[in-house]
Amino acid sequence: MTERKKITLPVLRNRKKNKKKISWLTAYDFATARFADEAGIDMILVGDSGGMTMMGKSSTISVTMEDMIMFTKSVVKGSDHCFIVGDLPYMSYQISDEDAVRNAGRLMAIGCDAVKLEGGDEMSSRITAISNAGIPVVSHLGLTPQSLAQIGGYRIQGRSLSSFKKLLKDILAVEKAGAVFHLLECVPEEVTAEIYKHVKNPLYGIGSGRNVDGQLVISHDMLGLFVGDVDPKFVKKYADLSSIIKKAFSNYKDDIEKNLFPEEKHLYSIEGEDLKQIVEYSNKFSKD
Ligand code: KIV
Repeated sequence: MTERKKITLPVLRNRKKNKKKISWLTAYDFATARFADEAGIDMILVGDSGGMTMMGKSSTISVTMEDMIMFTKSVVKGSDHCFIVGDLPYMSYQISDEDAVRNAGRLMAIGCDAVKLEGGDEMSSRITAISNAGIPVVSHLGLTPQSLAQIGGYRIQGRSLSSFKKLLKDILAVEKAGAVFHLLECVPEEVTAEIYKHVKNPLYGIGSGRNVDGQLVISHDMLGLFVGDVDPKFVKKYADLSSIIKKAFSNYKDDIEKNLFPEEKHLYSIEGEDLKQIVEYSNKFSKD
């Protein structure tokens, strides 16, 4: 059996060259990262979506660098092989190149292999500044959740010529600025195919169809673990973990109430003579 190697940027570039698609999932904690690693998943995104999936926030806007650092440290401990992308949260890079480099550096220092930021041409100087510090940058275009207020909600992008022109201009600008690969969110498949023709670096998609070098999905969505009514059309459900978890919790409660748990096999034992001494002492103690 060949030894499994850590996924690196050259590996990802080779996979594009050889037309072998990559699998990419979000993770925010040690156990999920370990399971993803053991399942042979290629990349992990420690996404700011963790603010919603793990912290119950209604958007990613209030996620902080401290939140991202906690998620990232747990994921890095869990994964030995996946390429780990750390998400720069809202306002950790928008204000200045200095902020962007400092915060990207914080994610790299705890074990990320690259950082991701949202935005197009307007982010070019941030991408160049971070890249010049020796840090690989992943661009995130299309539906960019940190700009929901500006976009006007969760809307499919690239559905008109003007929107396509902007997407194309943006992706070429971020590639020129140094982005090592791109993530395109919620764009029609045919539009993604047109974008694909023009980029050199790997292009991955989330909700953007099949004409890409690999897919990203939020692990909570594909596992059926999201609390609330999030149900994106593009997600295939591979499990229904929320039902499984709720059933297990309610069975546990029932067992306790019916005295069915713990059973004999869950008990720790004690030698007869030791128990006798304890009971004698206890009886005497209670009489004193
Ligand atoms: O934070 C995240 O999980 C993301 C994906 C929605 C692309 O950025």
